[in-house]
Amino acid sequence: MKKLKIGIIGLGFIGSVHIDAINRSPFAEVAAICDTNREFADLAGKTFQIPKVYYDYHDIISDPEIQVIHNCTPNNLHFEINRLALENEKHILCEKPLGMTSEETAALLEISKAQPSLKTCVDFNYRMYPLIQEYKKRMQENELGTPRLVHGHFLQDWLLYDTDYSWRLENKVAGKTRTVGDIGSHWCDIAETLLGTRIKEVMANLVTVIPTRKKPLKQVKTFSSSADDGQQYENFTVSTEDYACVMLKMENGVQGIFYISQVSAGHKCDLNIEINTDKLSWSWSQQESDRAWLGYRDQANQTEMRNPNSFHFANQYTHLPSGHPEGFHDAILNNFNAFYQSILIPGNTDTDYATFEDGHHIMSVIDAIVASSQTKRWVTVTD
Ligand SMILES: NC(=O)c1ccc[n+]([C@@H]2O[C@H](COP(=O)([O-])OP(=O)(O)OC[C@H]3O[C@@H](n4cnc5c(N)ncnc54)[C@H](O)[C@@H]3O)[C@@H](O)[C@H]2O)c1
Repeated sequence: MKKLKIGIIGLGFIGSVHIDAINRSPFAEVAAICDTNREFADLAGKTFQIPKVYYDYHDIISDPEIQVIHNCTPNNLHFEINRLALENEKHILCEKPLGMTSEETAALLEISKAQPSLKTCVDFNYRMYPLIQEYKKRMQENELGTPRLVHGHFLQDWLLYDTDYSWRLENKVAGKTRTVGDIGSHWCDIAETLLGTRIKEVMANLVTVIPTRKKPLKQVKTFSSSADDGQQYENFTVSTEDYACVMLKMENGVQGIFYISQVSAGHKCDLNIEINTDKLSWSWSQQESDRAWLGYRDQANQTEMRNPNSFHFANQYTHLPSGHPEGFHDAILNNFNAFYQSILIPGNTDTDYATFEDGHHIMSVIDAIVASSQTKRWVTVTD
């Protein structure tokens, strides 16, 4: 099978992760990269020996050799690059969130539906961890009982100080929400994936804990330390939330709550989810992603270590023997491989990965969360 030729746009934090995953995929190769930051583009091109380096996304999208575009740019560029890619008959894998608003994502969905031969994917990579896929299927087979409650959090600390800065703080670049769109979107996606149902109503409280920050006068990379003694700053008024708490109701009657923050010291990428059924509790944390916890009332609680030998359903998403941890990079690779196989294998209808349809739905959930916080009432999600 011939490898798909991939073009990556945006070579910051996640773009570099994409290069690593594609280099480990049997289904694809990085044929071209693009970044307006020539330094990033040239360095990545040299380091990974990528044949073509572009500095303007129009050029990589119109390159006839490229079959799939990976859009790893900041959120404000997702709509335009995705639209152009589809117009140029490229399959498209976009980073989350799919767009800035649900109007944008609805338009993208329409454009993609008009070209059914082109596959679309949103990089909701957390759903592609082996234990998430395994338990998704066990849940579908009713092995865990009937779900009643879902709850959890996604906590980070990389915006703890008022000197921490990123384009994610600028609503013109990131959108009208930050913490919800950036990390809450992942939490909602894995809750829906595990439970096989959708969030239909939300009641939310969004809070800007640090309303005025100091913006560095020179560019900083995502997740970089703010401890740069030589850095000079200007005051910057923040309009998006550092913290959010969201109550939710799902289509199958499951009730839930989650809270998210980017200002919680000591929490790095602390995504946790717990489901309570009529038989047991099940919980998983991203930072210990090779383990799941099972809680019982009348027997000893258990911790299950990821073990391909005891998987019933998701063996295609686990690659190493038990005890050899699989993590973030591997979940990304699982996502890409599932997407690439749906392009390469005719009739393959595998949609374990998130499509633009899912991306639009999550954007609609985000919009409902923002509306609920503004109006202080329950809001129904309308896709
Ligand atoms: N799925 C995940 O787990 C995950 C993790 C991190 C980021 N993301 C998403 O990935 C996207 C990028 O985030 P990041 O953290 O990598 O940001 P980043 O700032 O580290 O990287 C963005 C890159 O895009 C480049 N860029 C900006 N404008 C461009 C243009 N017009 N043409 C080409 N390149 C351009 C920048 O120079 C930069 O190198 C965001 O949408 C974010 O939400 C997803």
